[in-house]
Amino acid sequence: MSDHASAGNITVMGVTGLPEFRPGDDLAGAVADAAPWLENGDIVVVTSKIVSKVEGRLVAVTGDADARDAERRRLVEAEAVRVIARKNRTLITENKLGIVQAASGIDASNVAGDELALLPADPDASAAALRAGLRDRLGVDVAVLITDTMGRAWRVGQTDAAIGSSGLRVLHKYAGQIDRQGNELVVTEVAVADELAGAADLVKGKTGGMPVAVVRGFAVTDDGSTARDLIRPTGEDLFRLGTEEALAQGRSEAVLVRRSIRFYTDEPIPEDAIRKAVGVALTAPAPHHTKPVRFVHVKERRKELLDAMRAQWRADLAADGWSRERIDRRVKRGDLLYGAKEIVLPFLVREGAHTYPDPQRAEAERTMFTIAGGAAVQGLLVALAAEGIGSCWVSSTIFCAPVVREVLGLPDEWEPLGAVAVGYPADGPLAPRPPREPGDAFTQA
Ligand SMILES: Cc1cc2nc3c(=O)[nH]c(=O)nc-3n(C[C@H](O)[C@H](O)[C@H](O)COP(=O)(O)O)c2cc1C
Repeated sequence: MSDHASAGNITVMGVTGLPEFRPGDDLAGAVADAAPWLENGDIVVVTSKIVSKVEGRLVAVTGDADARDAERRRLVEAEAVRVIARKNRTLITENKLGIVQAASGIDASNVAGDELALLPADPDASAAALRAGLRDRLGVDVAVLITDTMGRAWRVGQTDAAIGSSGLRVLHKYAGQIDRQGNELVVTEVAVADELAGAADLVKGKTGGMPVAVVRGFAVTDDGSTARDLIRPTGEDLFRLGTEEALAQGRSEAVLVRRSIRFYTDEPIPEDAIRKAVGVALTAPAPHHTKPVRFVHVKERRKELLDAMRAQWRADLAADGWSRERIDRRVKRGDLLYGAKEIVLPFLVREGAHTYPDPQRAEAERTMFTIAGGAAVQGLLVALAAEGIGSCWVSSTIFCAPVVREVLGLPDEWEPLGAVAVGYPADGPLAPRPPREPGDAFTQA
């Protein structure tokens, strides 16, 4: 196996004199009658539309143009196992065969005005049946391709591609081979069946007069592969969704990928990612157009800060009357911030808060600022999660505010809103959780 190209010339011949096909017609018989000149090694390339017709894959659509259009759309959705992209009237789907195509391959061209053609149910099987039928009738061993017209992502215009095949190696893999300049062809894999489908289309055309062409002169090899082997497995598909759909999924999952992550890998977190997440957090709603939150990325003061916080915690527990052993056990469980890759401390600054003479409104104003701080911290966590970065919001700094301010040299007005531990999750990438059932957390009044 060296090159997929033919050693000599190839010829594409149109098959003339084929009838208008209807359900139940004998396709192999008709092709054999119209092309008794077929030879061993020829490739018979057949437009899928006539295969659909003889296999009865036609659906009657009646009524006015709107009704027919509605029925067409219903069929497109019914034939799809997955909608990949939807824009205006265009729907790109994956059908039951795994073929990704506009409108699930459903087509109104070259059929009667009150009919739509579905793709053949199993085009590889149809190709094998036609191949066997031609062998029976003419005693020749030909390869058969069943083709459909498809658009290509990234390129304007359609070409024909093989959706069914029999008797032809559909892919020519060059992996490991060396070109004339001595370069190894690592990834080249030529979709031979699609190239032949495209070549045959240059003779068959689209206006319906010639649904079958024969390619002669191509060095056919058969490795048992079929058109199904040309379908890229979903797991290897870098573009599993359309752009709009991917963006919509990202939006809907943004909040759901956040969860409290308490164990982290050693992988460094880019400072830019933290800065960007802070920028996102600062877009949170805040009262009176204020900016009531500040964030401190604790770097060289970290150990000093955590030791001082721990000492304060121990003193608080001792004052509660806890034994030393019990304090040791409890404090050991609070090691999360020591183990985090990075620590970011959010603070609330009540700048711009209104003053009120009565305690009730003064308290309400305080609450208003406090909850705005919470909104900003959640924004930080969600923004980090959207970059694949785990976090855990812990309360500890709230309980030892003076210690935090003193170690970090911060003004008295800065009120700690806890600490955010940051790092890539030790348990692997973040995945979205399903939303919770609202239950009695959601009522109407
Ligand atoms: C204000 C606040 C303080 C928290 N303090 C702690 C903490 O001290 N230690 C801890 O492990 N988790 C802490 N958490 C995280 C909660 O335990 C966590 O959000 C909860 O278990 C739900 O889990 P999830 O975040 O994965 O949805 C805190 C969360 C909030 C909002």
